[in-house]
Amino acid sequence: MKILVTGGLGYIGSHTVVALQNEGYSVVIIDNLSNSSKSVLSGIENITGIKPQFEELDLRDKHKLNDFFQRHQDIDGVVHFAASKAVGESAKKPLFYYENNVSTLINLLQELKKLNHQNIIFSSSCTVYGEAEAMPITEHAPIKPAQSPYGNTKQIGEEILKDTCQVNSNLRAIALRYFNPIGAHSSSYIGELPQGEPQNLVPYITQTAIGLREQLSVFGNDYPTEDGTCIRDYIHVVDVAKAHVVALSRSLKTKQTSNFEIFNIGTGKGSSVFEVINSFENISNQKLNYRIVERRQGDVISAYADTTKAEEILGWSSELSLNDAMRDAWRWEQKIRTK
Ligand code: NAD
Ligand code: WQD
Repeated sequence: MKILVTGGLGYIGSHTVVALQNEGYSVVIIDNLSNSSKSVLSGIENITGIKPQFEELDLRDKHKLNDFFQRHQDIDGVVHFAASKAVGESAKKPLFYYENNVSTLINLLQELKKLNHQNIIFSSSCTVYGEAEAMPITEHAPIKPAQSPYGNTKQIGEEILKDTCQVNSNLRAIALRYFNPIGAHSSSYIGELPQGEPQNLVPYITQTAIGLREQLSVFGNDYPTEDGTCIRDYIHVVDVAKAHVVALSRSLKTKQTSNFEIFNIGTGKGSSVFEVINSFENISNQKLNYRIVERRQGDVISAYADTTKAEEILGWSSELSLNDAMRDAWRWEQKIRTK
């Protein structure tokens, strides 16, 4: 079966291409390289022995997208990762985020409706839950007003899919709400490549340890949690990738009970910032230079997933631990800096 992976050279996309190829799918990638590089193709090939088809294309370009689908009418399913994801940047450039994350989904759905097979897996985010009232967070938890244009693009994306599925019974969509993907492929051929100063905890830790950053700032130790730092559900990116393969298979086999389904993708376990630092120190056998600073605006205190729905319906659950993810993130950081 032939699967289009948009944003397939990015962090989660590249790991998902590997997982798809390992399961025998033929993959074609669209990416505009705005947050990735062509060299990721060799990384994928090194792992799977197969170089996926790749077209450098911007999903905002309707004409080129139309031309692409004219040439690829035999696509069976789409995994749609392509989007911009920097929360802070989205507050400064809201129109760019709405165009790059929302218009692109619309462009894609307009092309998809012309195909015989209309299956799409959409990258959503736990950010839609905001500061949830109860932990762990189930898919029934209310959607909270978005704290950023980025978060809003994920809420709007889900609404667009829900509304479109309602009028197009041929379309089957699954939104996966990822919690905090971290780590890298254990081979160190692919991993996360943040541009500039990382916004996320784990790349900030590994870049500090390798000497690219002087010190990690821990954003607040006065939260109402056991050690005072925020709690998140950190999940190995390889586990996240596998969730796409099972979700896609469900969609392709028309096993969905509703045209539009939503699943949490997390480990079900919350870890504090200090627990992540401890894990890093244990697996790397070194102390991390960090200091406590003010809280970061917009951070929720705690967010971790109830994964029962994914377990029961998709038959998927995470397999790798926080230590596994930190070990792979650290190996990857060492590999890319010694190139
Ligand atoms: P990423 O930036 O590594 O990958 C996104 C890829 O899409 C990049 O390769 C980029 O070049 C490409 N792209 C962006 N705009 C494009 C466009 N207009 N046309 C074609 N290609 C385009 O990000 P990621 O971490 O792999 O995230 C993938 C998806 O998962 C995104 O939709 C993101 O919002 C979502 N998500 C990520 C996280 C996370 O923590 N990484 C958490 C929840 C949800
Ligand atoms: C994790 C924890 C920080 C950096 C973001 C997006 C969200 C989703 C996932 C896409 C928090 C603390 C961080 C640092 C720190 N992405 N931290 N020092 O905030 O859960 O979510 O990524 O959908 O939308 O907002 O992840 O990695 O930024 O932070 O102390 O330098 O680490 O305060 O408690 P977050 P994160």
